[in-house]
Amino acid sequence: MSENEIEKLPGVGPATAEKLMDSGYTDLMAIAVESPRVLSDVAEIGETNAGKIIQAAKKAAEIGGFETGTELLEKRKNVGKLNTGAKSFNDLLGGGIETGSITEFFGEFGSGKTQIAHQILVNATRPEEDGGLDGEAMIIDTENCFRPGRISEIAEARDLDPQEILDKIHVGRAFNSHHQMLLAERALELGKEKAIRLLVVDSLTSHFRAEYVGRGALAERQQTLNKHLHKLLRFADRNNAAIVVTNQVTANPDQFFGDPTKPIGGHILGHTATFRVYLRKSKGDKRIARLMDSPNMPEGEAVFRVEEAGITE
Ligand code: GTP
Ligand code: MG
Repeated sequence: MSENEIEKLPGVGPATAEKLMDSGYTDLMAIAVESPRVLSDVAEIGETNAGKIIQAAKKAAEIGGFETGTELLEKRKNVGKLNTGAKSFNDLLGGGIETGSITEFFGEFGSGKTQIAHQILVNATRPEEDGGLDGEAMIIDTENCFRPGRISEIAEARDLDPQEILDKIHVGRAFNSHHQMLLAERALELGKEKAIRLLVVDSLTSHFRAEYVGRGALAERQQTLNKHLHKLLRFADRNNAAIVVTNQVTANPDQFFGDPTKPIGGHILGHTATFRVYLRKSKGDKRIARLMDSPNMPEGEAVFRVEEAGITE
């Protein structure tokens, strides 16, 4: 799943590769099984050329079409696990937030999504033996909720140097959904220079929800969101980074997707996020995390706290 792999196909230049990747054709197999008509539409190329690309992808995809379990196990060894701050929460996720995947935290206002974001931004900069990813971290902030002061507070509570950690956190404030998508592209650029091991998008859906209103806009919203998610997956892949996105659920029944347990974004997000965690408020600073969807962990719950020191047991 790399741009290079697709660019190597005869007839595919960088611009076509970019269009294909953007539209979700992120591996050879996806291209190999597509029809020339659809592919010519997507990549804005002639149908004959599209046909040739599909043929080449079929040929190339055969090599390494299957991998042994042993090979896959070897790949899994590179997966990093990022400490959430609370052991029970880590256990729920199979040791922590995984790199190479998208983890979605969804829940109502005040359920702790933004606080978790701050905590893991700090944790990602820590060495691996401390549950970190030994790298830098990045946040696309769509609701103007990132607070450097909060980072300092969390760092100080753990006897860490706030300045050192703030230097490793890159913040992009997204003013609208278009800008949000541009920032994801910028992230890919910056990821080439710096070992960015965590990318947070808080919130993934707020701009999309505000800008694409009503049933008529739904299909377009989902398509655009899908494009954005594929860009994030690409980042995860290239940097062996953890992608964490937040998503608010609305208790307002008048709104589309008004079910309080259903995240905004519908099922495209459902299929793209590998781990989905539902957060809800409990007494005081207690919060409950529920794992809804995971490839290898049983569903379950964990209790954690949002305190001055950050996320704790
Ligand atoms: P929305 O973005 O509105 O959907 O909510 P959220 O899920 O992001 O909630 P957030 O993480 O912002 O807040 C969770 C809880 O953390 C809140 O109920 C606050 O009481 C608490 N909280 C927020 N900021 C701080 C802080 O700076 N210090 C402490 N100790 N608690 C905070
Ligand atoms: Mg928030």
